[in-house]
Amino acid sequence: MNEIIQEAAKILENGGLVAIPTETVYGLAADAENPEAVAKIYAAKKRPTNHPLIVHVADAGCLADWAREIPENAIRLTNAFWPGPLTIVLKRSSRAKDFITGGQDTVALRCPTHPITHELLTAFDNGHSRGLAAPSANSFGKISPSLAQHVRDDLGEKPNGSVDLIIDGGPCNVGIESSILDLTCDPPRLLREGAITASMISRVIGGPVLHGQDNHSPRVPGTLKSHYAPDHPLELVEEENLAGRAQFLARHFETFSLIAPENITKRFAPISAKAFGYKSVEDLQTNLYDWLHQLDKTGADVILVVPPQYSDQSCGVLDRLTRAAVPKNK
Ligand code: TXA
Ligand code: MG
Repeated sequence: MNEIIQEAAKILENGGLVAIPTETVYGLAADAENPEAVAKIYAAKKRPTNHPLIVHVADAGCLADWAREIPENAIRLTNAFWPGPLTIVLKRSSRAKDFITGGQDTVALRCPTHPITHELLTAFDNGHSRGLAAPSANSFGKISPSLAQHVRDDLGEKPNGSVDLIIDGGPCNVGIESSILDLTCDPPRLLREGAITASMISRVIGGPVLHGQDNHSPRVPGTLKSHYAPDHPLELVEEENLAGRAQFLARHFETFSLIAPENITKRFAPISAKAFGYKSVEDLQTNLYDWLHQLDKTGADVILVVPPQYSDQSCGVLDRLTRAAVPKNK
């Protein structure tokens, strides 16, 4: 076994915190059955303690240990998408304690595909279906990390930071958090949009999928109005309004940075503080968090974003962009 994985497994055994690479974003992992270890996650993130955490498992064989009354659709979906960026919400077993589920009768389960984390989960599981609680490895309300450097800059490694070990597994190729699907209701509900889209899920289960939460849905803090927000204001601008908005800002001696389709950034780069052009929705999704981290640092007054057209595939990235555009105190 790789040395770093051995070291990480040992830290987790002893109730420590390890930042793990996943295909979506970096996670802040702790033993999901150790209440003191899980408490350290909340303290490091400064996250309200009634917010439930996702339990990351090595494979679908762990479902029956963490959940009960598992519907047929859970089997179909895990066969189709695990390991991968789909989190499923099921009724919990007695193994998923209140300190993981926020006191709810459900548990969120995910099996990530990143090879390092997959190996770590398999080592940690050790044939006992043990899981790792792992929210995104960022301070509550900040932009999620898609590079190990983002975790170093925000939470940091001990002794100066709060994480025992940050594993650098390179850039996260999906780039936004997993899709979360509530399977405790029929039809299932997509509580958080991600790379596994509603139509991909529909195709596998052969039926409809509802979007968003209703009054009975479990709490999902990633769906608070303002989340994933940079420190500087972010505005969504349609292409036809961009020139006018740029002129307005210039007249008020305000600077802007830009994220837009490549053909647009080519034209606007000379008058913006910094610009990133995207080639496709997938390119935007993969790079969004890193670009926001970088643009936040340039110090321009406003981050302007020309969003992609609405489609099944762009739902996830549009969701993150609209939340990032909500003023921080909302
Ligand atoms: O891609 C991801 O899912 C990443 C990586 C690290 O795996 N993790 C992540 O975790 O985004 P976090 O904590 O930032 O977001 C998890 C979301 C929260 O919005 C939480 O409310 C929801 O999952 N969640 C956890 N348990 C739940 C439950 N039992 N029912 C409904 N939602 C739940
Ligand atoms: Mg998060």
